[in-house]
Amino acid sequence: MTNYPATGAQAPAAAGTIVLHNVRPYGEGEDTSVTITDGVITHIGPVPEDVDPTATVIEGHSRVLLPGLVDMHVHLREPGREDTETIETGSQAAAKGGFTAVFTMANTAPVLDQPIIAESVWAKGQKVGLCDVHPVGSITKGLEGKTLTEFGMLRNSDAKVRMFSDDGKCVTDPQLMRRALEYAKGLDVLLAQHAEDHRMTEGASAHEGQTAARLGLRGWPRVAEESIVARDALLARDYGNRVHICHASTTGTVELLKWAKTQGIPLTAEVTPHHLLLTDSKLETYDGLYRVNPPLRESHDVAALREALLDGTIDCVATDHAPHGSEDKCVEFEHAKPGMLGLESSLAIVARIFVESGLADWRFVARVMSEKPAEITRLPDHGRPIAVGEPANLTIVDPQSSWTSDNAQLASKSENNPYAGEEFHTQVALTVLRGHVTYDRDAAGGRVPAAAAH
Ligand code: DOR
Ligand code: ZN
Repeated sequence: MTNYPATGAQAPAAAGTIVLHNVRPYGEGEDTSVTITDGVITHIGPVPEDVDPTATVIEGHSRVLLPGLVDMHVHLREPGREDTETIETGSQAAAKGGFTAVFTMANTAPVLDQPIIAESVWAKGQKVGLCDVHPVGSITKGLEGKTLTEFGMLRNSDAKVRMFSDDGKCVTDPQLMRRALEYAKGLDVLLAQHAEDHRMTEGASAHEGQTAARLGLRGWPRVAEESIVARDALLARDYGNRVHICHASTTGTVELLKWAKTQGIPLTAEVTPHHLLLTDSKLETYDGLYRVNPPLRESHDVAALREALLDGTIDCVATDHAPHGSEDKCVEFEHAKPGMLGLESSLAIVARIFVESGLADWRFVARVMSEKPAEITRLPDHGRPIAVGEPANLTIVDPQSSWTSDNAQLASKSENNPYAGEEFHTQVALTVLRGHVTYDRDAAGGRVPAAAAH
């Protein structure tokens, strides 16, 4: 069972003093202690003699201390599909995955295109108090691709919406995308594009390649993604505003991003853990779990995406955590809804690919899973250095923990977890949001609070 602190009340600003004892910031150097007072890091080094005697001391066992992770792309399904995930269960999954801030996409029902909906999502996240849940506004009203959402009203609402996306759908109309860029520029909000030319992917459920051909599945070609990435790079160049590419999935997209960056075009991109790990060979069993949009591709794409994340061509990791009920997943492959869970497994996957293999270090993980996404979304209080005076949004990672992904243990309300039964060797041990412990793997006898049981 997982331990979650009671939810239902807004986390108070002041959190008393906690000491993270024997931790290694960024996995470097000797053990040290981090003292947190009222949500702010006040001391790093041996515990000061005048520390509050009532302080809570948490033993870190020489584990890795990272800035709290930031996920700029999740689907928490509220409002509209609370049977598959809610802000509360999604926040629990986020805290368990080491996240202190997430951005939840606009393809809810109703669509997140009105201030009142954005404010309600933000307020619920704050009430749950396990993770900052930032609502993403849609680029077009109702995700219909026709009329622009009123970005200014959402930006100025209590939710302070800072990112807009029609994710799940592409903003196909180039003139509308141009107008969106011009509008977004004045407000300094981010546009995140789901790059897919829908004319080229009609009826497609798998990557266009040998596997789909053999299995008799209609293919989703790389060019459907790459043509939009190329177009949006040119729009970003000519209309001078940044564009972020959601879930980059192909070798060609990597080449285009590289080109755009050498031209100084403000184009950023994310990659999902599943596109970094899995290929379309998973489709052999026709298991709807592996249907995802964009689709799992081939091994050269996976290699290019890994390389691009390592060299900074791709800026960050985002999970695209997409919960779906079994009625939408345990069906024929072509009828399965696209999407897979990601929040509770992403750190372990990134650690396996990059750290356990020796390709990169924990500084890299801090960069691609915390600092960069916070920078791209202009979050002022997440993804910050582990330093005195900084907000205590932190994650302790246990890099020597063998665990097996188990659907019965998921905090998420859905079970479309492509890693069930798989063993990993890195696990989140503790998550801290503004000095409050939001997840503690090792707390004894913990249970999911009744309100959140599912
Ligand atoms: O696989 C996906 N699922 N890709 C998307 O773009 C949307 C998402 C969803 O909402 O389920
Ligand atoms: Zn998505």
